[in-house]
Amino acid sequence: MTVLGISGSMRKEGNTSQLIKLVLERCELAGIKTEFISLAGKKIHPCLGCEKCKEQKWCVIENDDWDAVIRRVLECEVLIIGSPTYYYDVCGHLKNFIDRTYSLYHDHKLAGRKGVAVAVCASKGANRTIETLEGFLSTHEFSSLGWIKGTGYEEGAVLRDKDAVYKAHQIGDKIVRLLKPHLD
Ligand SMILES: Cc1cc2nc3c(=O)[nH]c(=O)nc-3n(C[C@H](O)[C@H](O)[C@H](O)COP(=O)(O)O)c2cc1C
Repeated sequence: MTVLGISGSMRKEGNTSQLIKLVLERCELAGIKTEFISLAGKKIHPCLGCEKCKEQKWCVIENDDWDAVIRRVLECEVLIIGSPTYYYDVCGHLKNFIDRTYSLYHDHKLAGRKGVAVAVCASKGANRTIETLEGFLSTHEFSSLGWIKGTGYEEGAVLRDKDAVYKAHQIGDKIVRLLKPHLD
């Protein structure tokens, strides 16, 4: 029963990571096990569109970090997936990660989990980022626990976005209620 946060940003300690960590901290305080993975520095090749995964039920690309990360996703109960907004959408690095999960779609391997979409932007475009992330979650039959949009440019600035911080705490509490229904 774990809550996994994944930030697709190349800024390891950037705004996306920090917003996701606010949710995770809330869960940790209630005694729920969490894990955080930054895709920064990880090698994630793009999907080849080879369709071999339809037969193999797993991505045929080897020798990169996608495999290790997706195995953590398969083990989680709640996934908090976040991206910085790049040109009004998710960043390319996270999109590569998402595209490769097509290999798990054929057998609905990710279905039944819960998901939260997190997007950060400097000024505008986070709506589409959320839409893309929610599209990923719903395609894989996650149930949505909501979304968080934050605003900030330089690293850490999102923590000054009071609405985003509030929403992160709210969603953290929702996860706690879901996973620990008998807590006061
Ligand atoms: C290539 C690139 C494209 C960006 N595109 C947008 C954009 O479309 N809208 C916006 O408001 N901010 C944009 N930004 C700013 C980032 O979304 C913003 O700095 C965000 O806080 C970065 O999150 P991070 O610290 O998690 O990487 C862009 C930044 C970069 C580097």
